[in-house]
Amino acid sequence: MKFLITGGAGYIGSHTLIALSEAGYDFVVYDNLCNSSQESLKRVSKIINKDIEFEEGDTRDKERLQEVFAKYDINAVIHFAGLKAVGESVEQPLKYYDNNVNGTLVLLDVMQEFKCKKIVFSSSATVYGDPSSTPIEENFPVGATTNPYGTSKYMIERILEDIVISDSSFQAIILRYFNPVGAHESGTIGEDPNGIPNNLMPFISQVAVGKREFLSVFGGDYDTEDGTGVRDYIHVVDLADAHVKALNYINSNKYETKNSTFNIGTGIGCSVLDMVKAFEKASGKKVPYKIVQRRAGDIAKCFADSSLAKEVLGWSASKTIEDMCIDSWRWQSNNPDGYSQSFNFKNI
Ligand code: NAD
Ligand code: UD1
Repeated sequence: MKFLITGGAGYIGSHTLIALSEAGYDFVVYDNLCNSSQESLKRVSKIINKDIEFEEGDTRDKERLQEVFAKYDINAVIHFAGLKAVGESVEQPLKYYDNNVNGTLVLLDVMQEFKCKKIVFSSSATVYGDPSSTPIEENFPVGATTNPYGTSKYMIERILEDIVISDSSFQAIILRYFNPVGAHESGTIGEDPNGIPNNLMPFISQVAVGKREFLSVFGGDYDTEDGTGVRDYIHVVDLADAHVKALNYINSNKYETKNSTFNIGTGIGCSVLDMVKAFEKASGKKVPYKIVQRRAGDIAKCFADSSLAKEVLGWSASKTIEDMCIDSWRWQSNNPDGYSQSFNFKNI
């Protein structure tokens, strides 16, 4: 029995492979490497001290997926594969709907053909749009998304709900991630964004390591304690653990459709300036910043009520903002150019 991990070479996927391996689960990674490299898998393999089965392929490639499902006895899928750059999705919506939505449809079709009826899907807090209050609960309205990336996540959630209605033996878990940051404590794997990072943590890290001059803080006039945006940052290792808990749940007799969508966050709101201060403390480096205009589409505050995940999955986050900053810094300072440089494991 194996789990298929689509997008397993990426940032969250690679960390999840370690958690799966620690839990004794067997898996095969399926990835087209459009936003990752096999270097991450090599490094995970070193950490877990085991070879990783890897099948290169695209989720939209039905024949390739059929080959993989025919080769392995796949019990469940964790579906990370997707494009995630919000700005790019506004410029190229069809690319996002094709890759994310169409890719998921093809995957689901092949799963149906091979009678694989369990999936854990990577959704995002972005499906809530601008929430009317915080903390956000799973039953808050969804769908008022502000960009094609977010809409693609919402559409996939709806598709999964419809499949569950049509087939009561099909089990889907939707994990709505808040803001994943941090890296594995080894400092050998982490987030490796292409070009100029859009997200806060990789940008701060690159300022601290000297790759960028200063951080632009998008807005200092929000209705928050210090005027900057508040988010729920979650350590990627805690997030990885949520997937193990989701698989335990989906493979237990406790699974219930009414309890299958979960917020995965810490429940703690942290401002941009809080993050800057925490990162400076963790790295011992100055992070110069300038407050600039708000970024279009940003909201003031977003943090989770994750009590359902605690109650049903037995999951809660354990790592602090300090851990997130220390681990991001270790990854960034050991690998200023991400996976493009080879890593000397003898040095750790
Ligand atoms: P990532 O880009 O690092 O990983 C995604 C992986 O999927 C990459 O390895 C990429 O090569 C692969 N991929 C993309 N399209 C594919 C396709 N058509 N076929 C096969 N492989 C494909 O991103 P991540 O941060 O690890 O995110 C994983 C998932 O979690 C994504 O679905 C993302 O939308 C979702 N998510 C991420 C965040 C975040 O902040 N990182 C927040 C919420 C949700
Ligand atoms: C963004 C995406 C969201 C996606 C999430 C995780 C948008 C509008 N939303 O969320 O769909 O699920 O990433 O990938 O892009 N900030 C700065 N300066 C920077 C970068 C960010 O001040 O250079 C601020 C932002 O204004 C925000 C906070 O930092 O207040 C976090 O930003 P970011 O890391 O981009 O995440 P989100 O905007 O929450």
